[in-house]
Amino acid sequence: MPNISAQELRTKYLEFFKSKGHTIIPSSSLVPENDATTLFTGSGMQPMVPYLLGESHPKGNRLTDSQKCFRSQDIEEVGDNRHTTFFEMLGNWSLGDYFKQEQIQWMFEFLTEQVGLDPKFLYITVFRGKEDLGISRDEESAKIWQGLFEQKGIAGKILDFPEKEGMRDGRIFYYGEEKNWWSRVGVTGNMPAGEPGGPDSEMFWDYGEHLGIHEKSDFKNQPCHVNCDCGRFVEIGNNVFMEYVKTQSGFEKLKQHNVDFGGGLERMLAAANGQQSVFDTDLFKNMWEVLALDQEIMTNQEVRKARIILDHVRASVFMVSDGMQPSNKDRGYVLRRLLRRSMVMGRLLNLKFHWLKALIGQVVSTYAESYPELVDKSQNIFEVIEGEQAKFEKTLEKGLKQFELRIRNQELGEVTGKEAFDLYQTYGFPWELTKELVENFGHKIKQKDFEAEFKKHQELSRTASAGQFKGGLASHSDKIVRLHTATHLMNAALRQVLGEGVWQKGSNITEERTRFDFTFERKMTLEEVGHVESLVNGWIGRDLTVKKEIMPYEEARKLNAIGVFGEKYADTVSIYTVFDPKSNEIISREFCGGPHVEHTGIIGKFKIAKEEASSAGVRRIKAVIEY
Ligand code: SER
Repeated sequence: MPNISAQELRTKYLEFFKSKGHTIIPSSSLVPENDATTLFTGSGMQPMVPYLLGESHPKGNRLTDSQKCFRSQDIEEVGDNRHTTFFEMLGNWSLGDYFKQEQIQWMFEFLTEQVGLDPKFLYITVFRGKEDLGISRDEESAKIWQGLFEQKGIAGKILDFPEKEGMRDGRIFYYGEEKNWWSRVGVTGNMPAGEPGGPDSEMFWDYGEHLGIHEKSDFKNQPCHVNCDCGRFVEIGNNVFMEYVKTQSGFEKLKQHNVDFGGGLERMLAAANGQQSVFDTDLFKNMWEVLALDQEIMTNQEVRKARIILDHVRASVFMVSDGMQPSNKDRGYVLRRLLRRSMVMGRLLNLKFHWLKALIGQVVSTYAESYPELVDKSQNIFEVIEGEQAKFEKTLEKGLKQFELRIRNQELGEVTGKEAFDLYQTYGFPWELTKELVENFGHKIKQKDFEAEFKKHQELSRTASAGQFKGGLASHSDKIVRLHTATHLMNAALRQVLGEGVWQKGSNITEERTRFDFTFERKMTLEEVGHVESLVNGWIGRDLTVKKEIMPYEEARKLNAIGVFGEKYADTVSIYTVFDPKSNEIISREFCGGPHVEHTGIIGKFKIAKEEASSAGVRRIKAVIEY
């Protein structure tokens, strides 16, 4: 019997913070509200950004919740002992109220007294500081932790450079910003002006040196340390001391200091019950029973496939309950990919036909008490997921056969883009899935060929959408498409900021960046650069619509479409217009063959990386998208 169930842990956490003056608030949807910069809610703080920046929250300045989260960027890791795409994040916030002392003390009390974790197996990381930005080492947090460990009779040795020198009997370790700085977009250099962030202090659970996890891992030739990814240590929570905001020139303290805590319910649960994998917790128990597989006699690869199924089906149930439907773009594409991937895995594990239906039922009943909406919406959840199953079942078997014929039987070498494309087009195999299957057989796939094939088809049929690959997993061609639309927005912004004497002279887009040459006499000031960036990011954030039209050249001229300086156009041209669907305000209208995104919200964060002279009277900008 577990020491503590998921339901008990969730309640204990919320009640504990309630006893410390917090209001319990419900989880927000997996579909972010008023935030077009990301497809999914990926952390508890995402819905809190306006309040961290100073707006007052109707429920007060101490809040706590258990937030549904989805991280598509972790999809490839699913199958190990600790990564899932969907998870619940236990969160508590101080909005300009308490700070480090209270947070660290309460968290230590919660973990050791309430959850019953043995502090001998807890390790802590804190921020090493970044002097060039004027952000100092977080000695204050390190000392608070040290005092708490010492009260339990455990030496709280504070050490630096664990990544180079290992653990050395330390308990509290300094790391750089890749590990101990938190903002929605990661490290300090990625943050756009106006984005809040701060140093963080993470808590790790140690499965124990005696298990030899490190020695058996790919990391065995380097010193083991809490962040080394060998799997011995698992991060169970993150205390972010969100007190900075990025400005045009660096960092400033926010008007208020905030705490943003987020901890993975599944990971904390596994730690509390001495389980070495989140998939062993009671959250997955009934789901395993449906699969009727005996983990004792399964290979590691089989266990991985089964875990992928459990993770993906659970995520899909929550996604559908938040209104998503499988489709060929954006969130719908991610959902389709999860479901089709689990169906292929199910086939490879020889699961019986009704397994999916039974699994959905188990997810709904496991979460019925905490998320009653799953029960209310269960009919729709079954219909949507089974509908997708029915669609894919028709081609799955044939597709796999085709796959074997074409790919498995290939002697050696790469798989052509056309073969991968056929599997996608004829049999509905998402591209990433084909890639994974091909790689499982030790082959490579020619991604560029596939994209070329895909584009050819797109231009022929005009039905496929540039948004096929959304979900934080932008493919090569997808990045280019996004940069292409961002370039149009930048062109419009340059003309607003620098005047209508600005004309495009040329442009070149690669997966990494857009390069844009334009007529202008002098170097842009920092303010002008910042203004262009914020105009473009503002338009991206408004999720404007992008429309393509074909018309006679003369008509396009009358609409004031802009083109490349000195370029001759055909009699019939295609133009792209970016406009606000509510007010019909036109932001940009250009002669262009495309392809472009369908709406700007999916582009990501735009940033000018460089502005320099190109030739006399011509400037050159290099700009990037941060995902
Ligand atoms: N926002 C932080 C995280 O996602 C803590 O809540 O880790």
